Amino acid sequence: MRIDVVSIFPPFFDVLEVSLVGKARAKGLLDIHVHDLRAHTHDRHRTVDDTPYGGGAGMVMKPEPWGEALDAIVSQAAPVAPPTFIFPSPAGELFTQSTARELSTCPHLIFGCGRYEGIDERVFEYAGTLGDVRMISLGDYVLNGGEVASMAMIEAISRLIPGMVGNPSSLLEESHEDGLLEYPSYTKPASWRGRDVPDVLLSGHHGRVAEWRHEMQLERTRERRPDLLD
Ligand code: ADE
Repeated sequence: MRIDVVSIFPPFFDVLEVSLVGKARAKGLLDIHVHDLRAHTHDRHRTVDDTPYGGGAGMVMKPEPWGEALDAIVSQAAPVAPPTFIFPSPAGELFTQSTARELSTCPHLIFGCGRYEGIDERVFEYAGTLGDVRMISLGDYVLNGGEVASMAMIEAISRLIPGMVGNPSSLLEESHEDGLLEYPSYTKPASWRGRDVPDVLLSGHHGRVAEWRHEMQLERTRERRPDLLD
């Protein structure tokens, strides 16, 4: 999978060198390119924002640098298939495990990280002439910009690419894969600071273990995320 990121703060993405994503890059499973939006400005101050038409608080990101940045990426990438543009925004559709699964099958993702009060709306319309466009929100809260949201999405999406995670069966048993929260896990020692691992896990009885885990999943989900059971 190829991933391009456009941001006015490229160093945010330096951490993509480490951990599983870093290993996947080294293995050639992920081809990640981070671009500085300001490289596509032509004035002395490298301006990327301006006041909003119609008035109001804050600044809006200008369309011209975005247009040039997106054109440069699209013409540089080998055209396997039209890219999918992702613009993180609190005004977008909610990002879930199912969104991550869907996006993990796309050959080319382009993340556009907005700052300030957002990006001129015409940029999204223009991106739509080059590929699919998704406005995606991490949740009902406001971040300072799309960088942290893009990082979270890149991690959630890329770990679903075949070959990324050492033991693929671990992906099937985690929170949200079956619509429920994950069951509690324990490891050795069987007794620690007066707290014992539940007997059933030491019983060696696979059927009873599976049943207990499922009950725990239901109990946790009912307690912490009743909305998932609706
Ligand atoms: N940018 C600012 N807030 C955001 C959010 N909640 N999700 C995605 N992108 C954002």
